[in-house]
Amino acid sequence: MTTPRIPLMAGNWKMNLDWKQGQALVEDLGDALKGLDSSKAEAAILPPFVDLRTVQTVVDAGKLPISFGAQDISEHEEGAYTGEISGQMLAALGCTYAAVGHSERRQYHGETEQVTNAKVKAALKNGIVPILCVGEGLEDRKAGKQVATSLAQVEGGLEGLSAAEVEKTVIAYEPVWAIGTGEVATPDDAQEVCSAIRDWIRAAHGDSAADSVRVLYGGSVKSSNVAELMEKPDVDGALVGGASLKADEFAKIVRFQD
Ligand code: G3P
Repeated sequence: MTTPRIPLMAGNWKMNLDWKQGQALVEDLGDALKGLDSSKAEAAILPPFVDLRTVQTVVDAGKLPISFGAQDISEHEEGAYTGEISGQMLAALGCTYAAVGHSERRQYHGETEQVTNAKVKAALKNGIVPILCVGEGLEDRKAGKQVATSLAQVEGGLEGLSAAEVEKTVIAYEPVWAIGTGEVATPDDAQEVCSAIRDWIRAAHGDSAADSVRVLYGGSVKSSNVAELMEKPDVDGALVGGASLKADEFAKIVRFQD
């Protein structure tokens, strides 16, 4: 018997909000999520690195039902890597998650499959759940290559992991053409790739990993479209950008089934 997958609704704040604004948002979110049934959904936020300490303080002080994590993680352990933030540092702050391989990291910071894979491993080594982001660009979507492109990124990101490690990861399918554009994938589009990801995991790592891994959809998710996406059997949550910057809107997304 496998444990049912609890939907994960993660808000990626990207490079928005200074620490004071971040503090206000997490406090408001705490209010908006009061009484959240943790068996129905998990709320998580991924603030900028410089807001993490503030978020940790507010979440701990209020015992808020909010997990938090980072938008990136260094593939290096420690030492002379100017500007990097290690898994150890994130773990010490109480981070549950770290996004890895977001398309904006791949696109603007030249992150390769190898780097993404090393970051996934760095997260796991430090007890942090990597949220491995994958997804095709518009060209590949037009050419019908969305499944092949996404699976190649899943395979690259999870390279060398044991089934037990894969079981601990979260995969976020974020078609690049849907990010920040207002153009959300249809629920069927999301299901097509999310189910292909789970099938790939089943074939490569077995039933337990496939049945435990949470596969999220990301790209223009809002309170008005989240419920239909979540009806799909292989969509286990959402990675939310813009709509996570407003407490009420993000709380509605988290409570998609209320
Ligand atoms: O990581 C979340 C993301 O890239 C989607 O952003 O603004 O389209 O919800 P957005």
